Amino acid sequence: MSRVAYVNGRFVPHADACVHIEDRGYQLADGVYEVWAVFGGKLADAEGHFARLERSLGELRIPAPMSRKALELVLHETVRRNRVTNGLVYLQVSRGVAPRDHAFPTRPVRPALVITAKPVDTAAAEAKAGKGIGVISTPETRWARCDIKTIALLPNVLAKQAARENGAGEAWFVDELGLVTEGASSNAWIVDRDGVLRTRDLNANILRGITRRSLLDIIAREGLPLAERPFSVEEAKQAREAFITGAGSLVTPVVSIDGTPIGDGKPGPVALKLRASYVSDATAEAL
Ligand code: PDD
Repeated sequence: MSRVAYVNGRFVPHADACVHIEDRGYQLADGVYEVWAVFGGKLADAEGHFARLERSLGELRIPAPMSRKALELVLHETVRRNRVTNGLVYLQVSRGVAPRDHAFPTRPVRPALVITAKPVDTAAAEAKAGKGIGVISTPETRWARCDIKTIALLPNVLAKQAARENGAGEAWFVDELGLVTEGASSNAWIVDRDGVLRTRDLNANILRGITRRSLLDIIAREGLPLAERPFSVEEAKQAREAFITGAGSLVTPVVSIDGTPIGDGKPGPVALKLRASYVSDATAEAL
């Protein structure tokens, strides 16, 4: 099946899709992105991702490429044209094309918009979650504005590669106090020794995960004990359970940290139940 990408107002064959060599996203990582999970051909947590996109653009003073309603239409059309039932849709906005100069272009330029969609093998993803992943810890090396979802991801790229080279599925950044901030492409959670769900609070330098937000609602509804409070790698190693959340991983159990098994080294019941609740809620509410 041939894939199609949306590039600056046109749907083009994926293999032929390209951007200008002086796109500021390409040269300077001057842009932002969003990723939605697609359930049943619809966008999961649609509202939260749109709101965060608008915030990221605002923080970098990049004008919105089109209205939210128009973006919604293009996202749906990209999903439809690629025949994605379950998968991911990726959207990137850069400041646009201009002669290379670190400062913003002096003449207004049109922001550049690219959207792609791809299917995810649901059975394989469920099997992976059923097995759990290992994580490695790695020093926090990122800038101080991780709340902005920018395409400048080099520390995340290096952390993820280190994870892969160590046979792990994710890397957890650890700050100068020894506390976990978040993953290279996910938020980090544990069920601590007292059975309390813990994830880093939003005063920290982390991305305000949309899946994290939805999970907090589920946790509140189910009356589970929760503390938005940092945890150390040592606490994570001694936790009952650990897991990650994100549009790509949904809720995925973590079974080891730096090679140390967590609990009995198998996915925990709380994480697995939260994954099922998240998928069922997000599917029902998808737009
Ligand atoms: N990553 N933290 C970081 C650094 C991330 O890159 C992501 C998502 C998350 C989870 O956010 P959300 O629940 O809104 O997806 C947390 C996406 C999926 C990616 O880079 O592909």
